[in-house]
Amino acid sequence: MKALIVINAFYTSQASAHQCRRMKEELEKRGVESEVLAFSRPWDCQKIPKADFAVFFDKDVAFCMALEKAGIKVFNGSEGTENADDKIKTAVILSSLGLPMPKTLASPKRYVYEKDNSVYDYLIEELGLPLVVKKARSSLGMGVYLAKTRAELIELDEETGAEEKLFQSYEEGSKGESYRVIVVGGKAVASMRLKSENDFRSNAHNGGIAEKAILSKEYLSLAEKAAEGLKLDYCGVDLFCDQPSIIEVNGNAYFENAERVSGINIAGVYAEYILEKIRR
Ligand SMILES: Nc1ncnc2c1ncn2[C@@H]1O[C@H](COP(=O)(O)OP(=O)(O)O)[C@@H](O)[C@H]1O
Ligand SMILES: [Mg+2]
Repeated sequence: MKALIVINAFYTSQASAHQCRRMKEELEKRGVESEVLAFSRPWDCQKIPKADFAVFFDKDVAFCMALEKAGIKVFNGSEGTENADDKIKTAVILSSLGLPMPKTLASPKRYVYEKDNSVYDYLIEELGLPLVVKKARSSLGMGVYLAKTRAELIELDEETGAEEKLFQSYEEGSKGESYRVIVVGGKAVASMRLKSENDFRSNAHNGGIAEKAILSKEYLSLAEKAAEGLKLDYCGVDLFCDQPSIIEVNGNAYFENAERVSGINIAGVYAEYILEKIRR
């Protein structure tokens, strides 16, 4: 049996390298050889690599789809990868399931940015101030901003321009803090808390420190429902600490911190899940 581990060639963080190495190791322990694929140059749509399955640690939905079309079972598949990568689609699915999340207004799709001053009054009326502005496809907290005033909201809207984005109520009670629940095959397998002392965003990238966390059933079940709704075999669900409500779902959550603070062999659990699915 041959596996592919697909990673993003442009994400060269230590967390990404760890993810890849650990997955390879756990597959090997179970007798499966794997090859790591990381494209830094254009890939050939008519020449798709061969494998029995692929572990997809990337957000390149088109390549994920190409693997599926070539008959390869991919974990996560393209549908789940897309649902999680686009924060607007995530919000649509979570709301359709009635799962708790901040009030969210999505920007309509457009190709050219045109400023409309009446929109700002509408957003402030609906969401209050401060409010959160988020790029629809972003991660590591890099596309998440806090608008404290109308002037800041206008500035952020102009800066993000025609890019797809969403506007959210600011949940201040969980400032700089969040829980992360890792879900594999619909089951919550590990949890942690992230806390940043100097930023409203709890991401490790913004100084968020990972700590062990034991979460109530309510939180774990919420994370499991989100993973199932988004059709993800593997993910990290972010939740507010002061209320069981979902911040976002990461289809390609790095598990280095979660493995370290929880002591759970996440790569091993994921490898077991994948092999069971493949052998069935
Ligand atoms: N609506 C919100 N209210 C308060 N804090 C938020 C809100 N949305 C996001 N955050 C904070 O910002 C961080 C990054 O936002 P998130 O939606 O997870 O995007 P990213 O994909 O960049 O991690 C979250 O972990 C949380 O700490
Ligand atoms: Mg996040």
